Order: sequence, then structure tokens, then C-alpha cells
Amino acid sequence: MTKTDIVILAAGKGTRMRSQRPKVLHKLAGKPMLTHVLDAAAAIADAHKIVVTGHGAELVRARYGDAAFTLVEQTQQLGTGHAVQCALPELRPQAKVVILYGDVPLITPTTISNMLAAVDDQHIALLTIDLPEPSGYGRIIRDSDGQIEAIIEQKDASPEQLQISEVNTGVMALTTELLADWLPQVSNNNAQGEYYLTDLIAIARNNGFSINGVQPISASEVEGINSRSQLAALERVYQLQLADKLMTSGTSLADPARFDQRGNLTAGSDNFIDVNCLFEGNVSLGCNVHIGPNCQISDSHIGDGVEIKANTVIDQSTIGDNAVLGPFARIRPGTQLGSNTKVGNFVETKKAIVGNGSKINHLSYVGDAKLGENVNVGAGTITCNYDGVNKHKTEIGDNSFIGSNSTLVAPVAIEEDGFIAAGSTINSTVAAGNLAVGRAKQRNIAGWKRPTKNK
Ligand code: UD1
Ligand code: CA
Repeated sequence: MTKTDIVILAAGKGTRMRSQRPKVLHKLAGKPMLTHVLDAAAAIADAHKIVVTGHGAELVRARYGDAAFTLVEQTQQLGTGHAVQCALPELRPQAKVVILYGDVPLITPTTISNMLAAVDDQHIALLTIDLPEPSGYGRIIRDSDGQIEAIIEQKDASPEQLQISEVNTGVMALTTELLADWLPQVSNNNAQGEYYLTDLIAIARNNGFSINGVQPISASEVEGINSRSQLAALERVYQLQLADKLMTSGTSLADPARFDQRGNLTAGSDNFIDVNCLFEGNVSLGCNVHIGPNCQISDSHIGDGVEIKANTVIDQSTIGDNAVLGPFARIRPGTQLGSNTKVGNFVETKKAIVGNGSKINHLSYVGDAKLGENVNVGAGTITCNYDGVNKHKTEIGDNSFIGSNSTLVAPVAIEEDGFIAAGSTINSTVAAGNLAVGRAKQRNIAGWKRPTKNK
């Protein structure tokens, strides 16, 4: 048996979320809960994924498209057993089937693999955990030999059974054939009038099967989300896990409780990240990167030795080694900063290629521009890249100097060693080595008297 089918239950209404959106589309670490589960399932070789949806099925379909998984609709939510029954026609013969939950987002591939390893023709696998506060969960009943005998739902349990701290996580694994055989035997004769998937345990026992109990690595793996506060609490748990991973790989965090990662973050060693930084999408950091407080970095690569000062925002950009950015720099998509560049406070760049050693230190907008090496852009310089209809490019050659408060009206080129006088408006090519003065000539009027106040 090498085939694996993974059924993800996601039909519940999620009433306590008080949302128009299906619960499983609510995000943890920037990614829908269902995506977390699908990603864990995708780590299992050749697994087929079947998602059982009910409320908001069309929204789930719209979010993922047709290729991501087989979608099964459970129009009426008659219980977890009924939900799996709806998926039955999609299961492959001779497959091991793992049942997961769309609102239990942090299940790991390791635990799924451990479940699969515990299943064969004689055994079914059940994921259980000991909880200090077992209230609300189905309790695991074991016989005198310690074998799992049954699961009793909270609402059906006796006072003695409520004392049991080992609970059902809901995650179960068994073969397609056994599911097909046993699900029709499940009745809804219980406190909730639902078809309980958990009844399969007792049926398995009655048919002479044993149940292999498997435990997750961490309790967060089996934490289910019913409300926004539970989601926020799990987010913190998960963020601490991500922070820990980052620290283990050699990056220091000023405060792991004030670190947020929504996506993939890879980092070399000896980086330092100050408080309240947010990393989104795919971000890679080199080594010896220093990031000040309150920075937001999305889909970017940051080279070795870069210093990013407080309140800097970087999106879809590449930052060369030993660059210094911020405080308060805004690096927009398509920016490529060379090594040893400096982009200072209140500077905005967009689609700007900046050569090694160049500096844009204060209060500038540089967009659709290509700067050579060792260019100095003075305070307040603006590339006027937009004529109201089209975008145009500005090119600045190596070693050029742009005086403060210059306006570069694109398309325009300043060739290498160009020198722009402060306060100039430049709208035609400045040849190599030229000084361009594009401003009104100063007049001084001698003996000028200030106006006096009218009587
Ligand atoms: C279930 C287990 C319980 C376990 C707990 C762990 C059963 C009967 N009980 O209880 O032993 O301790 O999970 O969290 O299985 N769903 C559907 N269709 C349905 C009903 C539910 O897709 O008809 C989905 C829900 O969206 C949810 C999941 O199944 O994601 C669990 O359903 P829920 O009714 O919340 O089960 P619990 O009462 O939590
Ligand atoms: Ca229920």
C-alpha cells in the first residue's frame, strides 16, 4: 500500500468566527488555514488531496482553482463521519487515507508520515494527545491492556470519563476499504444527532482490529480554530516557533515576541533583527545584516552586511552588500541597490537601478531610473518620470553629482561625471563632464526698501 489519499474536512460553518468568509480561508501567518494543511499534505509523496467543503464552497473553489485538490461538497453538515462518507467516491482503492481538518492548520508532515506508518491491513491509526484541560474534546477510552477501545464525545461522556486527559485530535488514518465498509455502520444515535467519525474506533475494535495511537510532536499541531481569539492565540504560538527557528539558524532577535513572518524567510548567520519587524512573501537575508525596529520587508533579497535603519519598507527589491538604508526609506518594487549604496531618510525609489557606491541620502523620489557608480544625488532631488500619461526613464552616469532640489524631467540622461547645479530643472542631455545650470539667474537689487504698513 503506497498510495496516500488525504481528506481535509472543511465543511463546518465556523459560526463563532462571525464572518462572511468560510473559516478555513481565515489567515494564519498571512496564509489561509486551509493552505497550511494543503502544504503539509503536499509534503507527502504523491498524496491525493480531497477537501470536503459545505459553507462557502464556491469561495474555496475560487481561491484555489481546479487543480489544487478534488473538491467534494457536503451540502448538509451531518457530522464528521458523514463528511468523510461524502469523500468516499473520490478515494482510491488500496489507499491509506488520512483525515485532517481545514481548521487545524499546524499539522506537520512528520506527524502525517507517522500516522501513515501506523496503518496496515490490521491496524488503524489515531492521533491522540494528553491535555491538561481536556474539556470539549472526545476522550480516549483504553482497555485494561492499554489498548485504545473507543472515543467518547464530551457531550456523551460520564463524569468518570470526563476525568480522562487523553483526547481525540480527530486525525485518523485507515484504508479506503475499511472506510467503505465501516462508515455505513455509523449511526447518529447520540447527544448531537450527528454521524461521528469517531465511532469507527469502536467498530474497528468489534471487528478485531487494533488501533495504533500516535502522538504529535507539539500540541500546536492539533490545535483547532473556532474563533478569532483562538486564531490570534495560535498565530502567536506559531510566530514564536518561526522566531525560534530563525534564532537556531544564527539570527538574533531583540524580542522573539515582537517578530512576524508571513511567508518564507531564509537567513545567513549573525544577523540582528530589532523589534516589530514584519517579513512577508519570500525574503532572504545574507550574513551580518542589521535591521532596526519597525521595518517591513517583502519579497526581497538583502545582501551581506546591509544595515536597514528604523521604519524602512522594502518591497520586491534587491539590496547589495553593505548598503545602508533608512531610517524611513521606502524601497518599492524593481529597485536594485548595488553594494555600498546609501538610501537615506524619506527617500522613495521605484524601478531604480543604483550602481555600487551611489548615494541618495535625503528626501528624494527616484523612479524608473538607472544610476551608475558613485553617483551623489542631493537632498530633495526628484525624477519626474510621469508626464501624466506615460512613464519615462532617467539615466545618470558614473560619478555624477546631482545638486540638491534638482528636478530631472524624464526622459533625460546625465552622462558620466555630469554635475548639476542645485535647484536645476534638467530636461535635456547633460554631456559627460559638463556642469548644467538650469535655474533662473540670481539678481541682487541694491538699496531696496521694505514696504511700510499703510496708515
Ligand atoms: C471532533 C471530534 C472529537 C475531537 C475534536 C478535536 C467527532 C465526532 N468528534 O469534535 O472527538 O476531540 O474533533 O477537535 O469527530 N465537519 C465537516 N462536516 C460535518 C461536521 C464537521 O466538515 O458535517 C468539519 C468541521 O468543519 C470541523 C471538523 O469537521 O473542521 C470538526 O467538526 P466539529 O463538529 O467541530 O467536531 P468537534 O465537536 O470539534
Ligand atoms: Ca460538533
